[in-house]
Amino acid sequence: MSQFVKELISKMTFTEKIGQMTQLSGDFFASDNSAITGPLQQANLATTDLYQVGSILGVSGVDEVKKIQENYLQHSRLKIPLLFMADVVHGYRTIFPIPLALAASFDPQLVSQTSEIFSREAAAGGVHVTFAPMVDLVRDPRWGRVMEANGEDPFLNSELAKASVEGIQGQQKIPDADHVAACVKHFAGYGAVEAGREYNTVDISEWRLRDQYLSGYQAAIEAGVPLVMTAFNTFQGKPATGNYHLMRDILRRELGFKGPLISDWDAIGEMIAHGTASDLQDAAQQALKAGVDIDMMSMAYLKLARRVHPSSELVDLVNQAVERILNFKESLGLFTDPNRGLHSENEKQIFSTHNLEIAQQAAVESTVLLKNKNNLLPLSKDCRLGLVGKFADNPDLLGSWSWQGKMAETQTIKSALQENFTKVSYIQNQQLQAVDLQLLKQQDVIVACLGLSAQQSGEATSMTHPQIPDQQLALLRKLQQLNKPIITVLITGRPLVLNPIIKNSDGLLLLWFPGSRGAAALAQILLGEKEPGGRLPMTFPKDLGQIPLYYNNFRTGRPLVGDKSDLENKYLSKYIDQENQPAFCFGYGLGYAKTALSESKLDKKTYQSIDSIKVSVKIENHSDISAKQVIQVYCHQIVGETVRPQWELKAFQKVKLQPKEIRKVEIDLPLNRLAYVHSDLKRRLDPGNYCLRVGFDSQSGLRQSFKII
Ligand code: GLC
Repeated sequence: MSQFVKELISKMTFTEKIGQMTQLSGDFFASDNSAITGPLQQANLATTDLYQVGSILGVSGVDEVKKIQENYLQHSRLKIPLLFMADVVHGYRTIFPIPLALAASFDPQLVSQTSEIFSREAAAGGVHVTFAPMVDLVRDPRWGRVMEANGEDPFLNSELAKASVEGIQGQQKIPDADHVAACVKHFAGYGAVEAGREYNTVDISEWRLRDQYLSGYQAAIEAGVPLVMTAFNTFQGKPATGNYHLMRDILRRELGFKGPLISDWDAIGEMIAHGTASDLQDAAQQALKAGVDIDMMSMAYLKLARRVHPSSELVDLVNQAVERILNFKESLGLFTDPNRGLHSENEKQIFSTHNLEIAQQAAVESTVLLKNKNNLLPLSKDCRLGLVGKFADNPDLLGSWSWQGKMAETQTIKSALQENFTKVSYIQNQQLQAVDLQLLKQQDVIVACLGLSAQQSGEATSMTHPQIPDQQLALLRKLQQLNKPIITVLITGRPLVLNPIIKNSDGLLLLWFPGSRGAAALAQILLGEKEPGGRLPMTFPKDLGQIPLYYNNFRTGRPLVGDKSDLENKYLSKYIDQENQPAFCFGYGLGYAKTALSESKLDKKTYQSIDSIKVSVKIENHSDISAKQVIQVYCHQIVGETVRPQWELKAFQKVKLQPKEIRKVEIDLPLNRLAYVHSDLKRRLDPGNYCLRVGFDSQSGLRQSFKII
């Protein structure tokens, strides 16, 4: 703690300290009187309370931020500047593909680059902290927030968590005035909500939390994330936000997090609804003891300010919290410049051509080609296209949490295709009357743009049936009658059950919510100017009943062996009405070029635990076009102290090859990545025998074995 912060704290009243620990939304600071009669009155707050709160969420824009900050400081006795926080998750005004789509790029450098761009735009817009990255491990597409996550694999999640934090902070421990600070969320385990139902119970063992769910948060903390946000869910029967063990023991003591911990929206107050707090004071006490420094929107901490004689323990806890908050404000330079150098000049970079070009590249690298029957794709410029479907002429391509992104500024697929193809016939009517079918009969290829709207993914959008709506399936069945090649373009923020789509499509492109320049990226991909670079970060199930279905599952005592005996033997871990196989597995994705791997080798057969494995493999581009691939390295521990996943991704490398290029690729795999949490809850690496497999997805590849002594 600096001398400045020390002296400041010594001047603060108990009420002012509690104020610093309270965060209110922007509507409380509305310049007209609506705040007085609206939120302040509902929250039973006086305007004096307002000028003591420490931070505000959901406000951006130079003028607005400056006006609020100026007015606030005029009323603040000790002139402690407000902290402005916002949900800039995958773009500020230039919107990038949703995080789950960016995870499909398997490109940490790209994730870092897009994160830095949105961080710069947000900082230019007056934001100080963004509530990102979200690194909840996700394995259930019924949960709408999978769109914000990095997918089902702990290693990919940790690599991208690190890349996001480094990008947001501009590769700096403390972000300069051109970047915002990151806030990793939601600690911890929110992605494991039972039945994929939003805000539902999470009941996973501490062993599983530590072994698979903590990796993203840990990577973010190791990358220097300055803030952490608590999760809405319970862990071991206690709401995370009041969970001493989770926050004090695991987050602060073990993971070494020392910065401000902020609750999620009203998560402190929700302890009453959870039934573990009798009132707001009780909830506040529990959260404070758990080490939560900032109360987002429940006003629970403000209740503590009413205490006439707070106990010495309470005063102590409050002082620790305020110290973390003021240290953080000082680290951002807010005391010297409350506007962190904000000036309209900075705003010029927002939505710049350069940023939009990167957004388009990111959409190309995130798009996953799931099917390409008879190499239908790519298409020629003069190919006669029949364009149909809900998303054919629809700017709803940004996805949720797209902060200042504007649909009015988002090019539609129809517009992008008309710019790049000479003959595009767009049928607006999704019911396809006879006249429409007649017109479509004259086309060479049908492009059907189907999927779910942005409102159907993100927070509070759990679905019991994550699949394409019947009306869109009916359209596809009608198109089938035309006997024309059909390319289905999928707009979605979550894996879907796609069986009818897969059957009725010759080409299937997963565009996700591709952001501001997703339509232009699609045009480049359809033309073959760019090759889709995505590989699935989450399994696509064949059947709803398989969910949750993820590749890195444990073997069980009766695993399938992968041959016809699986059909003959009844007593195996399987269903009687469906295969275990997904529709598309983790890591899967096609390219336009034909590539192959061969000659995989390890530099040794036996390793010490401190070693890295050098995996070498030959990759060949058999095509006369350039190629991109994601070489994936999976490992399996033959015998563990606890059960071990059948395969786990432990390294990957995205490569781009020239036409006909043959290249030997070497991938380093530090063996400490194979450490796992034992039954004593300690992470260790075991000596023993291991398998390693190098491939283009999680289901096939070239096998090697090695030993750790
Ligand atoms: C929401 C979300 C959280 C977000 C916060 C502020 O409820 O759970 O991810 O950052 O509130 O908007």
